[in-house]
Amino acid sequence: MDYEDSVAAHYGSGGVLERMLAVVRNAGGNPEHFAPADLRGADQLHIGGPAATSRVATRAGIRAGARVLDIGSGLGGVARHLAGDFGATVHGVDLTPEFVAAAQNLSERTGLAEQLEFTQASALALPLADASFDAAVLVHVGMNIRDKDRLFAEAARVLRPGGVLAVYDIMVTGGDIEAYPMPWAPTAETSFVQPPLAYSDALAQAGFDVGHEAKPLPEGIAFLEHALDAGGPVGLAGSALANLLTAFRAGILAPVEIYAHRP
Ligand SMILES: C[S@@+](CC[C@H](N)C(=O)[O-])C[C@H]1O[C@@H](n2cnc3c(N)ncnc32)[C@H](O)[C@@H]1O
Repeated sequence: MDYEDSVAAHYGSGGVLERMLAVVRNAGGNPEHFAPADLRGADQLHIGGPAATSRVATRAGIRAGARVLDIGSGLGGVARHLAGDFGATVHGVDLTPEFVAAAQNLSERTGLAEQLEFTQASALALPLADASFDAAVLVHVGMNIRDKDRLFAEAARVLRPGGVLAVYDIMVTGGDIEAYPMPWAPTAETSFVQPPLAYSDALAQAGFDVGHEAKPLPEGIAFLEHALDAGGPVGLAGSALANLLTAFRAGILAPVEIYAHRP
């Protein structure tokens, strides 16, 4: 099996749409029609949830009317947030067919489908025109992608001159991961975590001007502690979150944001 097939098999293990609708139902909402916030962040598969998405979008300067590419869009939670709260038009691309179908379905139920589009494809071969986006976001996806040079070359190709790429990934800040599973990978075979410097180098290689960097580690630790207390996100093994929290506390991994512009 190609490693991308293994990544898609890890995420698309079945029943994700029903799990999301159960979140809405259990909170007293109507699963046929609900607001994105009724999913309570369960559809945002990254450290910090909706608050982190708002922070990243604000730092990236995403505004109403912006054409945004969401690379590795998962269940579409980030895309719906950028559409609903920031007024953007978002095209999400993701490797996992089940996630793409769920993203589309959930977006229709929230009434945001007109601002959103989802396509099943690899970030390494985007089926999109050159210079067609004002901004791109990559949120907790690079950990699954070995070829960061190609990833960022593709992002640069589809951004217009002056466009911004916001990267928000788990990165290596010291030492080796001691225990799997991690939330993004059951074993080291599909985990390609890298230090911030490797990201900056790959971004520069792709022609980006690499700017602001942030490391919200204390917030990341607090988020994981709270998630573990609450029983963990729907559908994710508790051991994966516990292993990530251990690696955060040991200074081995951290959530890192990097903002880069296409000249
Ligand atoms: C941890 S989830 C994050 C999803 C979303 N960005 C969010 O924050 O809610 C990682 C996502 O990246 C996708 N992914 C991994 N490798 C990819 C690739 N090469 N191309 C496109 N998507 C990929 C997975 O299918 C999964 O949906």
